[in-house]
Amino acid sequence: MKNADFLTGITTSGTPHLGNYVGAIRPAVETSKNKDLVSYYFLADYHSLIKNHDPGLRKQSALEISAAWIALGLDYDNCVFYRQSDIPEIPELTWILTCMTAKGLMNRAHAYKASVAENEKQGDKDPDKGITMGLFSYPILMAADILMFNAAKVPVGKDQVQHLEMTRDIAARFNHLYQKLFVLPQVVVDETTAVLSGLDGRKMSKSYNNYIPLFDTQKRLRKLIMKIQTNSLGPDEPKDPNTCTLFSIYKAFASESETREMAERYRRGIAWGTMKQELFEYINDILEEPRKQYEELMKNPSDIDGILQKGAMKAREFSVPFLDKIRTAVGIHSLG
Ligand code: TRP
Repeated sequence: MKNADFLTGITTSGTPHLGNYVGAIRPAVETSKNKDLVSYYFLADYHSLIKNHDPGLRKQSALEISAAWIALGLDYDNCVFYRQSDIPEIPELTWILTCMTAKGLMNRAHAYKASVAENEKQGDKDPDKGITMGLFSYPILMAADILMFNAAKVPVGKDQVQHLEMTRDIAARFNHLYQKLFVLPQVVVDETTAVLSGLDGRKMSKSYNNYIPLFDTQKRLRKLIMKIQTNSLGPDEPKDPNTCTLFSIYKAFASESETREMAERYRRGIAWGTMKQELFEYINDILEEPRKQYEELMKNPSDIDGILQKGAMKAREFSVPFLDKIRTAVGIHSLG
């Protein structure tokens, strides 16, 4: 197995939604098919332990996310698709990295600082109230995910850029302290990737609870699209496509010429009801086949397990010998 050209993790919390599709799944599915690249995609289930303490929910989310990625066309034979928790070398590397990561570096992590700021705002005596060591050292686990496969490029959302900087810091420190084993990974934030708006016009996100699940029933998909907020312009009045949530969602799915045509119809005046119905039909057409496959997979979770196990075997062809080198570099190996 070769070093990873691309690697990215998906935290197993929540149900996959349309925003995940255009932001992460669709580009990853494309890359997964490229025969000239080795790309790694994994379910970050150890990361999910930090926020969610419900075992049933964690399992359900892992199931839904893997079924969604497979149903949407991930080429799991060509890429490496696995569960973080199936790679024991990752937590082992995490500890080795933890022991050389400055606490001060972790003090600067945005997510940790935001939690402290929230406690201070609430007037709590303890600024670390409710903050676990998992949350605090989250970036080290993420560094281990990446460095374990010497990934060259890591496609992520903007909110993860700091974590990649920390990963590079940690890798450089290891290389300096022990042996030059790690590649310094590059962050890839694709500005052209669509960021989808949700039902209320804000970014579609689990935390805002404004999302449209990818694989709900057709009926529910329609119902949610009908709920998307619009302004009160009448059916024949000209409308501005660029400030419209419906249009921005349409644009994320449609071709350039379809988008141009739709913008024209906005300017001429399109009724909100018509637009919503057309948007529903457009998205439903795209999701219809994958939805069938998704439902099939959800009925046969052992098929998903099989795919993930194969992926873990491929990943470990790299991680087992590489961890061995790392252990040797730090002086943990046979005493003979
Ligand atoms: N922290 C990432 C997120 O919340 C998920 C993740 C975990 C990840 N490990 C990773 C992303 C390694 C890229 C590489 O989106």
